Amino acid sequence: MIETVTELSALRARIREWKRAGLRVGLVPTMGNLHAGHHSLVQLARENADRVVVSVFVNPTQFGPSEDYDRYPRTVDADRAGLDAAGADVMWLPSVPAMYPHGVDAAVKVCVPGVTGVLEGAHRPGHFDGVSTVVSRLFNQVQPDVAVFGLKDYQQLAVIRYLVDDLAFPVELVAAPILREADGLAMSSRNQYLSAQERPVAATIWRCLQAMRAASQSGQARQAVEAGGVEQLASAGFDVDYVAIRRPDLGEPAPGERGPRVALVAARLGTTRLIDNLAFDL
Ligand code: PAJ
Repeated sequence: MIETVTELSALRARIREWKRAGLRVGLVPTMGNLHAGHHSLVQLARENADRVVVSVFVNPTQFGPSEDYDRYPRTVDADRAGLDAAGADVMWLPSVPAMYPHGVDAAVKVCVPGVTGVLEGAHRPGHFDGVSTVVSRLFNQVQPDVAVFGLKDYQQLAVIRYLVDDLAFPVELVAAPILREADGLAMSSRNQYLSAQERPVAATIWRCLQAMRAASQSGQARQAVEAGGVEQLASAGFDVDYVAIRRPDLGEPAPGERGPRVALVAARLGTTRLIDNLAFDL
């Protein structure tokens, strides 16, 4: 049976007990409203650790002032049942004061330079500072041997790799593949904001990413591929934030350069902002 822990002292006692017994601890950070994508991360954590902690915390510092912090879906009872079935040992459910004891505005901040200035970082100022701040806290609270993050948030994983290297967190990172709905839409807690009319249109993102991969592999120049992606999404009714082909480190590849690539998209359908990506070789 999964244990729900809301106090840091109780979490630390449980982790100490596990570590004394020589057990390897895995962490899956989440904001709750869990779906099969999250559950697949728990499965990966179980394969890489003896005990699994899943944090469920809607982190206020990673939401911009006009973003969806207040309406972000909070479904703790369903999350607990799903995590129990997925085989997690502890649901770490801190309050905002437990996570930010000096208050959100006075909290110590962790900022990762460079990779946070482009794509998501450019469109959501301060977002990655909030992510790296809360993930640093989670690493110190849980002291995991291994932590699992999804490739769905490709740039987030790049930020966390940088964070772990630079602050020498003794944590091994595991990247989990993107889980999709039958029509290719990447699973996301935000999909439920989509209306019945918008929901089938949302899968255009997946078709767009596949078309970008095909065009790149057939030799089309990067800028033309990106422009084609914008066009495909705009004509389906999206407001496009960005469509980009990048190297895995999110740097811009030189013309004619070959190697691994990732196509990344962020676009809004009505009031719902969706992100997705597809890695491929060139
Ligand atoms: P959240 O959006 O809840 O996502 C938690 C984890 O699940 C992330 O690592 C994310 O990449 C992964 N994930 C989400 N949808 C997925 C899918 N369809 N397939 C595979 N993995 C998926 O990301 C966050 O929360 C927060 O920023 C957090 C890291 C918890 C910090 O607050």
